[in-house]
Amino acid sequence: MSILRAENVTKLFGRRTAEAARKIGSGADIGDLGVTAAVVEVSFEVHQGEIFVVMGLSGSGKSTLIRMLNGLLEPTSGKILIDGTDLTSLPPKPLRELRQKKVSMVFQHFALFPHRTVLENAAYALEVQNVPKRERLEKATEYLRLVGLEGWGDRFPDELSGGMQQRVGIARALTAGTEILLMDEAFSALDPLIRREMQELLLELQSELGKTIVFITHDLNEAMRLGDRIAMLRDGRVMQIGTAEEILTDPANDYVAQFVADVDRTRVLTASSVMEKPLSIVDPGNGPRAAVRAMRENQTAGAFVVGRDRRLIGAVYAEQAAQAVRDGAGSLDGLVEQLEVVSPDTPLAELFSRSAESALPVPVTDGAGRLLGVIPRVTLLAALGNLNGSTGELPELDTDEEVMTSA
Ligand SMILES: Nc1ncnc2c1ncn2[C@@H]1O[C@H](COP(=O)(O)OP(=O)(O)O)[C@@H](O)[C@H]1O
Ligand SMILES: [Mg+2]
Repeated sequence: MSILRAENVTKLFGRRTAEAARKIGSGADIGDLGVTAAVVEVSFEVHQGEIFVVMGLSGSGKSTLIRMLNGLLEPTSGKILIDGTDLTSLPPKPLRELRQKKVSMVFQHFALFPHRTVLENAAYALEVQNVPKRERLEKATEYLRLVGLEGWGDRFPDELSGGMQQRVGIARALTAGTEILLMDEAFSALDPLIRREMQELLLELQSELGKTIVFITHDLNEAMRLGDRIAMLRDGRVMQIGTAEEILTDPANDYVAQFVADVDRTRVLTASSVMEKPLSIVDPGNGPRAAVRAMRENQTAGAFVVGRDRRLIGAVYAEQAAQAVRDGAGSLDGLVEQLEVVSPDTPLAELFSRSAESALPVPVTDGAGRLLGVIPRVTLLAALGNLNGSTGELPELDTDEEVMTSA
């Protein structure tokens, strides 16, 4: 069961909304009814422990959607389910209780109480829940420490920078102890560098606490950095839901393709998305003759030496192997050279220099040193070329240098 789920949710503003909702359902035009279709037939599931980003331009319906997820707005039609309970079926009191127990919000403009201390702000949700004072202040202190505000509890919000105030906002949401965090443009009011810091903080907190987070943003780079999955909204409709890589490599329509056209893909795409099966592989028990044959057959400058359990041992290069054959050597001893490896989640941007340094494709290994795949230089260049919106064929490039600088 998913922790949070939207089922065919529509929210219309205006007077003749019921009529308009029926018309939308049957695909008819509602232009004449004077209603605003803020959210239209939106469905998704948020998995436990993921950061689910809702991304769209201003006016695309993000805030309306998050307010429905929080039970603050009632959908015109459709359902919102939290842990399987349909919010739209609940009377006000149980709705409020469910919300208190399950959902916390973090707002763009922090929404702190100016006349309360940082600590009292952070403890606020527990005060509402009538948790004894000592306990709630202890918890709030703990979460303030976690967001990097140890020692700031006695200050007032206006003594803090924007970034720090939003740390209080996050501490307050965490202190509430809910499984779900809803964040509406939580970092949009912050300066770029501070914003970057807050994104890092959120990712750290996430890996430590494993909350389920719905994060709203109009910033594609932020969406890509934070989102395990991203829902792209346009005029209230979902254009696509997928990982950053899926959206970049396989946009669902022209709108999405246009939207992501300018993203620096080399920072989003990772080694695992472009790696290929290595061509020349030899066993450490093979001799140089077998290595030379493998390299000839595959027309490679070297071969990967891969032992038991697919563990990468190193590489032998064509010239040395050929010399060893001429010398009558029976084994690869002394020919195997160590290789620099990358992990599957290394961004492509970090691969260009490695690729340039080596005659062999860059090997990708897992934590146990097993060879998962390799990235030939030409593949890296092709991946980069795609990204400029071409068809996936190898781009025509004047020089490698041009590629490097555009990376
Ligand atoms: N309470 C409301 N009454 C009427 N129209 C609204 C209301 N709230 C939002 N809208 C309209 O719904 C659309 C989506 O708004 P919103 O959800 O705030 O988008 P976003 O958060 O993506 O900027 C906009 O056209 C907005 O004007
Ligand atoms: Mg908004």
